[in-house]
Amino acid sequence: METNTPKRRDNKKSLRVKVISLGNAEVGKSCIIKRYCEKRFVPKYLATIGIDYGVTKVQVRDREIKVNIFDMAGHPFFYEVRNEFYKDSQGVLLVYDVGLRDSFDALDSWLGEMKQEMGSQANMDSIVFIVCANKVDLTKRRVVDEGEGRLWAESRGFHYFETSAQSGEGINEMFQAFFSSITDMCENGGKRPVSEVSAGFTKEQADTIRRIRNSKDSWDMLGVKPGATREEVNKAYRKLAVLLHPDKCVAPGSEDAFKAVVNARTSLLKNIK
Ligand code: GTP
Ligand code: MG
Repeated sequence: METNTPKRRDNKKSLRVKVISLGNAEVGKSCIIKRYCEKRFVPKYLATIGIDYGVTKVQVRDREIKVNIFDMAGHPFFYEVRNEFYKDSQGVLLVYDVGLRDSFDALDSWLGEMKQEMGSQANMDSIVFIVCANKVDLTKRRVVDEGEGRLWAESRGFHYFETSAQSGEGINEMFQAFFSSITDMCENGGKRPVSEVSAGFTKEQADTIRRIRNSKDSWDMLGVKPGATREEVNKAYRKLAVLLHPDKCVAPGSEDAFKAVVNARTSLLKNIK
């Protein structure tokens, strides 16, 4: 009996976890992992074929964590290969390229694919998600700003980090937060602690701000059809004002969105008899 004690203590302190990387092809998933594990950057694009697998050991507080990393190929061609690797993950790195809007817009479909493949196992509250806004070193080609990325991530209870696999910016901080959250979750009985990334605003508020930013004209911004009546415009305006009023909404970008909605309403009402 005596001899088992240290072993049991060791077992309690060591942890084995599985993490996966997701995101469009060429956004930098493999480079982010390589930068962390091998401390180097490869400028040449070497597409991941199906899945790359690696193991690393990390220390979080008094625990040794053995991390199994499944680095997925982003190209749609490899869907059949990667779909079986979603199950039993404790952590997901969701990566997009800040210079490619499509790769940011695709995050929703990556979550969709994951949910679909996990089927009845799809309990997203038992998984730590980290969003990596990658390639921030290429400042001139940036099209998705920090506010937009952070809003998308935090409204879903996900962490958000700005990273560059090229310069190393944000990489260690991101992985430290990732592994520490996974450890917290395991110690919390497999439930992601809510308080930690509690955003203080709703997904509806975040999605509305995003929709407003991307709207093509004032009608679209208020969510009414071109040619709508004064009454319809005012009704839509009131709904948005309640949702986004700066006194009530702390989501990043809410103030600008609120002002844009006020301006849209004013300009539409000017032209409606
Ligand atoms: P798939 O395996 O096809 O899904 O792509 P991936 O997401 O793993 O992309 P990968 O890591 O292979 O990187 C794609 C290209 O982007 C490579 O040419 C990298 O050198 C480059 N790259 C990755 N991260 C960065 C970064 O932070 N900054 C810059 N400037 N280039 C990067
Ligand atoms: Mg890759």
